[in-house]
Amino acid sequence: MNVLLIGFMGAGKTTVGKLLAERLGYQFVDTDDLIVQRAGKTIPRIFAEDGEARFRELETEVIRSLAGCQRHVIALGGGAVKREGNLPLLKAAGPIVYLAASPEELARRIHAMPGTRPLIDGDSAKKTLPEVEERVRELLAERLPLYERAADVVIETTGLTAEEVCQRMVGWLE
Ligand code: S3P
Repeated sequence: MNVLLIGFMGAGKTTVGKLLAERLGYQFVDTDDLIVQRAGKTIPRIFAEDGEARFRELETEVIRSLAGCQRHVIALGGGAVKREGNLPLLKAAGPIVYLAASPEELARRIHAMPGTRPLIDGDSAKKTLPEVEERVRELLAERLPLYERAADVVIETTGLTAEEVCQRMVGWLE
């Protein structure tokens, strides 16, 4: 009915999700975009002005609002697995694919888009690559068990193009 993509920031959920949606003839939706629409401001501004707890409330509201979706590829924010209560909502929507990548690769991709991920940037949007990688490793250590618990399948993306990741997903879905 739907396919859900979870994984750390920079895992390629949006890029690969759009490709997969095209391939399956599904609609693509990204929960971060819906949160931004609902809040009327960017994610860094939500974090700075309202705090992470408010962001997580909005994220749960958005996940709840997707309950009636059919034939959608749904890309979730990297922290959507943090709230225990989100899990049954996600599980009910369709199979959950965890896009995994090495900390080095995640850090490289995140570093290329500074100022967009408040949980990485902290107070300064100008973190060096080693600083980003250190933060990625810290957060990934907390998140890994959560991703693995939520996932129906793990797809390793390190060193693969979006097209190759998409093909693996189609193979698994078939
Ligand atoms: C977050 C990931 C971000 C966004 C927010 C928090 C996280 O989404 O939801 O900055 O906690 O990992 P992406 O995974 O799409 O970057």
